[in-house]
Amino acid sequence: MGGDRSATRGRRSQMNRRQVLATSVLAMLPAPALAGASEPALSSPVVGTSWYPEQWPMEAWARDLDLMREAGLKVVRIGEFAWSRMEPLDGRFDFDWLDSAIAAAGSRGLQTVLGTPTAAPPVWLTEAHPEVLRVVENGEVQGHGERRQFSVASSTYRRYAVRIASEMGRRYGRNSNVAGWQIDNEIGLETFDAEAKVRWARWLEGRYRTIDGLNDRWTTAYWSQTYQRFDQVPLSLGPDQNPALVLDARRFFSRLWADYVSDQAAALRVSSAPDQFVTTNSTLWNNHFDQHLVHQTLDQAAWDLYAPSGRPDWAGNALHHATVRGYKQRAFWVMETQPGYVNWGPLNRSMDPGETRLMAWQAVARGADAVLYWQWRSALGGQEQYHGTLVGPDGTPAAVFPEVAQTAHEFAMASPFLQGSAPQAEIALVYDQDSRWALEQQRHAEDYDPTGVMKAWHRPLYDRNIDIDVIGPEQDLNRYRLVMAPALHLVDADLAGRLSAYVEQGGWLVLGPRSGMKTEDNALWPNGQPGPLAALLGVKVDGFYALDDERPLEGSWSAKARVWAETIRPVASDVEVLARYAVGGWTQGQPAIVQRRVGQGGTVYVGALLDETGQGGLTDRILSSAGLKPGLPWVPAGVEASMRAGPAGVCWFLLNTSSQAAAIEFPPGARIVVGRLVEGRLGPQDLVVVRQGASQGAEEVRTSSRL
Ligand code: GLA
Repeated sequence: MGGDRSATRGRRSQMNRRQVLATSVLAMLPAPALAGASEPALSSPVVGTSWYPEQWPMEAWARDLDLMREAGLKVVRIGEFAWSRMEPLDGRFDFDWLDSAIAAAGSRGLQTVLGTPTAAPPVWLTEAHPEVLRVVENGEVQGHGERRQFSVASSTYRRYAVRIASEMGRRYGRNSNVAGWQIDNEIGLETFDAEAKVRWARWLEGRYRTIDGLNDRWTTAYWSQTYQRFDQVPLSLGPDQNPALVLDARRFFSRLWADYVSDQAAALRVSSAPDQFVTTNSTLWNNHFDQHLVHQTLDQAAWDLYAPSGRPDWAGNALHHATVRGYKQRAFWVMETQPGYVNWGPLNRSMDPGETRLMAWQAVARGADAVLYWQWRSALGGQEQYHGTLVGPDGTPAAVFPEVAQTAHEFAMASPFLQGSAPQAEIALVYDQDSRWALEQQRHAEDYDPTGVMKAWHRPLYDRNIDIDVIGPEQDLNRYRLVMAPALHLVDADLAGRLSAYVEQGGWLVLGPRSGMKTEDNALWPNGQPGPLAALLGVKVDGFYALDDERPLEGSWSAKARVWAETIRPVASDVEVLARYAVGGWTQGQPAIVQRRVGQGGTVYVGALLDETGQGGLTDRILSSAGLKPGLPWVPAGVEASMRAGPAGVCWFLLNTSSQAAAIEFPPGARIVVGRLVEGRLGPQDLVVVRQGASQGAEEVRTSSRL
């Protein structure tokens, strides 16, 4: 890549108003701490962007990359849809352009994340091997021109995918400008092609050994469903199919995706340096596969954070960041986020000034090490011409550019204080993918939305500025003082045993409605709800009722049941009733929420979905039972506060997501690292990062009512 300097000169002479603004913002910012020679190539957190050099002539690259450098960007993600450019003909590879792109980025201090291009197969591949095409459940075969038109079950496709991944690994696995790998792009679509069906029969045989075993566990005597051979079993996600079959089909697709990812990860790792990470990028509340399974062979998690309505759901995003952090229980990346607006919602409103920066900082506050904008520059053609970008099609900065540049420079300023740090949580919310799938097929009340229930349980914790981890039921519970499982519908004896042990040893376990109703086969427990949890909870759930009204509860705080109400019968004598239904047919006077002290800890069983006030009161009650102090009284309403702690001490992130300035009084010893207060007030859509020294431990800071 020659001509960088003249390109820069040319660009400067064409500066428009936004560029001047961007430059003046940069000039106002203190210089970022410089990375020492011994520090890693990427000193997190960093800002980056998706860049598609294959869509532009090489001559256009220098200008784009110079501007990225000027904005303080540190990462470009390249290649995830460029298969036809990397392998224009079967087995004929052309990486010269990619060599140049990576080198050009590297020469400007930009590290590359390389995407394996398998989300977009070239036409020669699907033409020569039409059996690799994805088939939707109604039999329609997906064609060329969009993307993700391949079958995850196809061994031919897997072979081609592994081959291109191996080629890339061999070529770039030791390239010091390549920080890591992204496998495919937003994986997950199901396929119902012939090979998928063969694999399904094989998977079932592996799981059940005999067809009689399957018939028994699936209750196929129902509606004459009895199968004689595994290859008779339909592969289906149909809403009216046998719930056991549908849940297994979901598990089967999870397995396919986990194998697909691990095949590519293995191919990359043959030649790549150990410090190159391998990840894949996922989506909000992805429901196509079990994330914990798919992440087993990955180094870190990543997700694509979008607010298509242009109105960020701050509490929802905080929860989902924690969810993604939980896949590997370590720092994650936001691999894509919107520069202002997207193009795929019903109405693609732009986020307001300040919100793009706030959203990036929220990600870091919740444990992200990188935030990458999708995308740098809009291609002139193709399907996404209306999407938000950092620069326009002419290469000049978009309105949001200065905000992103400011964020990038602020990340660099905070970086020395954030190395090796992570959010600290004493509370875990349990997310169980199998339970979600089971509940979604049989909601019984259409408003019973398992992720909505997660959000409703999380909301009062968020409002009280209490951070949480989100874990799968198989993960270690003993790290937490309080474990809340809003939707643990499927519980087997092993899980029940682990939950009991956790409580016996001093943990507090809070279970939501519909807990312990089903076996791992999605069948009702023969002893009724709560199945194997009955001994621990000391109750029997006598009945469940879908509600079209709100039913007030009687208890020590104000609450109403909505959507769902169960009637609970205490069986053990030490079960304490916390709330009863005050009115309403079958539920009148019946226990709705119960508590029991067990061993060193305790359990709370919540048999109803509650209104917001009720859930808030319940949260306060549980926090006090578990001996946890609520939030941070010094942080005013409308300001989100969260914390990361690490070797360099503790950093607090105060984000004003409201439209009002908020007065904040910092305690002695606190030092602002990023942002500022004006006359003691934090402006709307503004933030500060506040630091405390390493001498003060995370525990000490968290539990103090003032910093
Ligand atoms: C997804 C994809 C990207 C792009 C963006 C647009 O996240 O991964 O390739 O299409 O959406 O928002």
